[in-house]
Amino acid sequence: MIKNLDKSKLPKHVAIIMDGNGRWAKLRGLPRVFGHREGAKTVEKTIRFARNVGIKHLSLFAFSTENWGRPKDEVNAIFGLLVDYINSKIDELKELGVRLRFMGRIEELPDYIKESVKKGEEETSSGKDMDLIVALNYSGKAEIIDAVKKAVLEGRNINSEEDFRNLLYLPDLPDVDLLIRTSGEIRISNFMLWQIAYSELYFTEVLWPDFNEREFTKALLDYQYRERRFGKI
Ligand code: FPP
Repeated sequence: MIKNLDKSKLPKHVAIIMDGNGRWAKLRGLPRVFGHREGAKTVEKTIRFARNVGIKHLSLFAFSTENWGRPKDEVNAIFGLLVDYINSKIDELKELGVRLRFMGRIEELPDYIKESVKKGEEETSSGKDMDLIVALNYSGKAEIIDAVKKAVLEGRNINSEEDFRNLLYLPDLPDVDLLIRTSGEIRISNFMLWQIAYSELYFTEVLWPDFNEREFTKALLDYQYRERRFGKI
């Protein structure tokens, strides 16, 4: 199936709402944390596949500002998986030419996470093949509020979209071309509200731990048949 991909029609920026870890575990009679663990393995494979196929920016929704409402054990387990991932995969990301970046209210996170985030960003900063953006303590509305606060604090004028974009967490990040959400939920859940204004949306029933190269390829092929008009005719 992958050979049917037209490299000239690949989305440059793919964003993924990785949903369904909890249900994956429940279906197997396992604690939710097992679903996140399996989800972290999917993250690893997805990154490699995206980079090899030629995606330039891959954004993953790892932890939302709303996810603090989950049981403490689950929150800690997600953070643990994330920190383990960063600490153990830096060399591999460097070899792949992947630049790791984070967006969200990172300053509110515990020190051990901030240290890991900083190390991950610094050590992979020369990666040229793909940007991997991990949204952490992130929400689209919070990003917009933080942008407005920054504008007021720094006395910046906003006269154009470009002026506003320059206030976002990662101003150089292009808009999302393709947004994928797994697990059958058909909603945006406060992810990258500014950047998805003209994204193509792809929803699949597959739960995140079961998402694989075949499912990713299906989403990319679907995207290639979309006609993007951006409001024109
Ligand atoms: C959504 O499933 C998943 C999350 C909120 C956590 C995502 C985190 C990971 C995959 C682990 C680490 C991440 C990286 C980048 C290494 P859910 O729990 O909402 O599932 P449910 O809707 O079935 O309950």
